[in-house]
Amino acid sequence: MTTTAPAAPTTTVTPRRPRTLRTDTWWWAPVLTVVVLTAFIAYGAWVAFIDRDYYVRPYLSPMYSPCLTAACTHTTWKLFGHWHVGQLTVSPALLILPFPLAFRLTCYYYRKAYYRGFWLSPPACAVAEPHGKYTGETRFPLLLQNLHRYAFYLALPFPLILLWEGIKAFDFPGGVGMGLGTLILLVNAVLLGAYTLSCHSCRHLCGGHVDTFSRSPARYRMWKVVSTLNHRHMQIAWVSLFGVALTDLYVRLVATGTLTDPRFF
Ligand code: FES
Repeated sequence: MTTTAPAAPTTTVTPRRPRTLRTDTWWWAPVLTVVVLTAFIAYGAWVAFIDRDYYVRPYLSPMYSPCLTAACTHTTWKLFGHWHVGQLTVSPALLILPFPLAFRLTCYYYRKAYYRGFWLSPPACAVAEPHGKYTGETRFPLLLQNLHRYAFYLALPFPLILLWEGIKAFDFPGGVGMGLGTLILLVNAVLLGAYTLSCHSCRHLCGGHVDTFSRSPARYRMWKVVSTLNHRHMQIAWVSLFGVALTDLYVRLVATGTLTDPRFF
């Protein structure tokens, strides 16, 4: 009697679940975010520590504005004296940059951008993230993101200060004038003002907790203006980020004599 060999166990090959069914170039946005933000962080850190070439009359770099230490020879607002950590002098930029930095870092839009770019959480819509579980912003340190509205209040004076520096940029050694740097400083102040006003917290400040707009016409008008800007918050966020870096670079190039500032009058 012949016996047949038992059949070999069959292996079910489960196809690997695709990370996404998207076929478009969804990856370019997170990659671009990482490249641009990394470049900005590197440039900002260099500027904050280098502590020179940030002023050439009448231009002050926005990354050192307001310049409040005794090292700022061009200003009378020497509120903070000389700052040292050991042998190292703390640059005026290090005293003020934490405020706009906290504002950008906790911004609702940037959070989305850098969560996607740096943490792939998730990399894009309809693309699976590599993390096993999602804890959101429920624990330290991401819990601190909820302080955004307070960062907004702290950042609120900065566009006005920069606007004032832009107005002071008409004050050349020979008298009143206007150079390309004047225009750049003013445009930068306007862009930062637009970024601040387009903030979601600002929109809430203007129109939040209002049950009936017809009873608060002034707040309704403010809310409408801010909402118009708010719809463009992402674009304004990027343009104003480039604006700050390029304005600093321009002042720096003029201060070091690499560029000659063209004068309009
Ligand atoms: Fe982006 Fe407030 S600055 S949401």
